[in-house]
Amino acid sequence: MKVLVIGSGGREHAIAWKLAQSGRVEQIYVAPGNGGTALEAKCRNVAVPGGDPGALAAQQFLVDFARTEHIDLTVVGPEAPLASGIADLFGQAGLAVVGPRVAAARLESSKAFAKTFMAAHGVRTARSNTFTDYEAAMDLVRSHYAGPDRGRPLVIKADGLAAGKGVVITSRADEAEATVRDFMQGKALGDAGATLVIEEYLDGKEVSVLAAVQAGPDLVPETARIVPFIPARDHKRRYDGGEGPNTGGMGAIAPVPDFTEAAQKDFREHILEPTLRGLQAEGLHYRGFIFFGLMVQDNRCYLLEYNVRLGDPETQAVLPLMASDMAELCQSIAEGKLHQYKLNWKGGFVCAPVAVAEGYPGPYRKGDLISLGKEKIAASGAQVFIAGAALDQGSLKTSGGRVLAVSAPGSSLEEARSRAYSAMDAVRFDGMGYRRDIGAC
Ligand code: AMP
Ligand code: GLY
Repeated sequence: MKVLVIGSGGREHAIAWKLAQSGRVEQIYVAPGNGGTALEAKCRNVAVPGGDPGALAAQQFLVDFARTEHIDLTVVGPEAPLASGIADLFGQAGLAVVGPRVAAARLESSKAFAKTFMAAHGVRTARSNTFTDYEAAMDLVRSHYAGPDRGRPLVIKADGLAAGKGVVITSRADEAEATVRDFMQGKALGDAGATLVIEEYLDGKEVSVLAAVQAGPDLVPETARIVPFIPARDHKRRYDGGEGPNTGGMGAIAPVPDFTEAAQKDFREHILEPTLRGLQAEGLHYRGFIFFGLMVQDNRCYLLEYNVRLGDPETQAVLPLMASDMAELCQSIAEGKLHQYKLNWKGGFVCAPVAVAEGYPGPYRKGDLISLGKEKIAASGAQVFIAGAALDQGSLKTSGGRVLAVSAPGSSLEEARSRAYSAMDAVRFDGMGYRRDIGAC
C-alpha cells in the first residue's frame, strides 16, 4: 500500500519510520517532511504549496495528490490541519484518513470547548472558569490574589491553538493581570486569546497517554473504542531539574514507572471511559489518535488537556516499543475496525532526549551542519528521529528549534537512559543543547 503522512516534525519521522517497517507498505510520502524523512527507507518528501499543511489551499492540493497517486491511507500528524478540517476534506473525497473531523478536533483547538465537554461527561479535571469578557477575567484574577488561596498559582490558558505559548502559570498578581491583558486586549496570540480559561493549579506528576480512537455516529455503538498506548512522560522545561522556560518538549520516556496499576485504573474510569461516552453522546466523528495530558496525584488522575494527535516527543519514545504493525493499526482505525484489533507492545523502556538549537525556545540559530556518529549510535541501539533539520546537498543542517531526538531502548529505564546519552554523545552541531536528566526526574 501507499501511505501519505502529513507533517514535518520528529513525530512524523517516527510515524514514517514505524510505517516503513510494515511488509504491507511499499511507499510513504511525507508532506512536507524533513531531512530525516528524506533519508528514511521507502519515504519520499512531497513539497506542500505555501509550506503549511494547515492552509486550505494546501489541503486541497493534498487531497488531489492522494487521488492521483492512489494513496491508500493518509495519517495526519499535527493539530493545525485537523483544526482546519483536513480529515473532513479527505472523508468527503472518499479517502481513508487517520485523524478526527473538525468538530472533534475542537477538543484541542478550543480549551473552552474541551472544558465544557469534560464537565458535561464527567471527565475529572481542574476546576476552571471560561471568560470572553475582559473585566470579568480581571475580577477573578484580582479576587484570587486578594483571597485565602492567594498562595496558590493560577493557570491562565488561551482558548485557541497557540503553539505551546498559550498557558501561563503564575503566583504573582501583576503577572496574571498582565497575561490577561496581553491575551485578551493586546491580542498577543491573535484570536486564540480572545477567550480565556482560568483554572486551579494542580500539583503532581505529569503523564501523557496516547491512544487510538474510533467513535462517531456512523458506528455500531458497541464498537466505539479508545485503545491506550503504553504511558509516556515528556519533560517540558528547557533545563535540567525542570528549570527554565517551557518548550515543545525536551525529551520523553516510555513507559512511566510511577504510573501505577491503580493510577491506570483511575485513568480508565475517570478519564478514558467518560471521554468515549462523551464522543458518542455528542456524535463526534473520530478515527484517529488522541493524547490525554494528565496530572497524577496519589494515583488520582486529572485531565489537563486533550490533543487530537500523537504527542511530540512522546511518539518518538512510544512507537519503538510498539510490537504491532503501524500500517495495520492505522488501517483498522480508518476503517472502523479498531474493536477487532489487538495492539501489542514490546517489553522494556525507551529514553528519547531531544537536542535543540542554541537560543531555543526563543529565537534560535539555524543552518548548522549536523554530524551523526553513526557507528556509535548504532552500537547503542538508538534511532535518530529528525525534527528540525533539512537535507542540503546531501548534508543535514539545522532548521528548527528542536533539531532531533535519539531514541534508545533498554531492558530497564537506566539502561535506556545510558544508551540514549551515549548515542547523544555522538551527535554534534554548533550550538547544540540538551537535557541530561530525561527519565531521571
Ligand atoms: P496544556 O497545554 O493545557 O497541557 O498546558 C501546558 C502545560 O501547563 C501542561 O503540560 C502542564 O505542565 C501545565 N499545566 C496546565 N494546566 C495545569 C494545571 N491546572 N495545573 C498545573 N499545571 C498545569
Ligand atoms: N509533548 C506535548 C505535546 O505533544 O503536545
